[in-house]
Amino acid sequence: MSSVTVRVPAKVNVQLSVGPLREDGYHDLVNVFHAVSIFDEVVAKESESITVSVTGKWSDQVPVDDSNLAIRAARALAKHAGRTYGADLIIQKDIPVAGGMAGGSADAAGALVACNELWGLGLPFDDLMEIAGDLGSDVPFSLLGGTAVGTGRGEQLTELPTGGTFHWVFALADGGLSTASVYAECDRLRKASGAEVPWPQLNDSLVEALGTGDAYALGAHLSNDLQPAALNLRPELAPTLEAGRQHGALGAIVSGSGPTCAFLAIDALHARDLALSLTTTGAAHTAVAAHGPVNGPVHGTAVPRRH
Ligand code: C5P
Repeated sequence: MSSVTVRVPAKVNVQLSVGPLREDGYHDLVNVFHAVSIFDEVVAKESESITVSVTGKWSDQVPVDDSNLAIRAARALAKHAGRTYGADLIIQKDIPVAGGMAGGSADAAGALVACNELWGLGLPFDDLMEIAGDLGSDVPFSLLGGTAVGTGRGEQLTELPTGGTFHWVFALADGGLSTASVYAECDRLRKASGAEVPWPQLNDSLVEALGTGDAYALGAHLSNDLQPAALNLRPELAPTLEAGRQHGALGAIVSGSGPTCAFLAIDALHARDLALSLTTTGAAHTAVAAHGPVNGPVHGTAVPRRH
């Protein structure tokens, strides 16, 4: 086999509850991930060494040096297998960079699945999940897809059933936000307020809304503890969220650490209308309609294609 292609979805967090700052610099979370139909494609081609190149939207914003998460994923996989392997990784980007939609994590997950296949390692899913967790808190979910609650740093996952398809609009912002800086701003705001930070709890009403496929109830229960911090760093996002609500969004939140804003629509038609309204009124320069949940690169839709 000379090349393997996988497709990996973006995510939105429908509940992101952030606990107190831990000694290791992370926060314990209750993080309900939901994979949506915006995809990066990762091609792994036989090669002597591990390299990465990026094409498509936002390609100029992705580092292609050793800090690239897909390169780090391929190296970690080779190390786990105890041998030196090579692969040219070619990433076709559609997921916003540093947008709060786990684009870098998706590329890392894609590299793990594609190289596992290219190199004929045949490592089981659990091994890939373990390597994924060491690469970043969101990488395990990028491998899993669907809808799942993450605890710990967000890497300990339990799948959640969903009773239907949800329709979303994502308003993309100019420039990214660093996840670490948004968590740091969240800590700063909490310290300044002096209020005690509660231990994060899964919202049962949200789980029920997901399970019954009730978009109205899901919209009412969307929550993101990082939102005040993201809005402090990017105040221009507040009117974007408000514009979405005025155009009938069932819920409007910052996606993860932002700056992408996520709007839950009533159905596919409403999502198209909402995306159009957000762009024509200037509330967002780009708005993309998508649906969820979708499968991750290991399950179902995105099984590696062999060439
Ligand atoms: O795990 P990952 O490398 O994606 O995390 C990026 C940054 O986000 C961390 O360095 C940390 O500042 C913050 N983070 C956190 N608590 C988590 C996950 C991430 O504070 N549970």
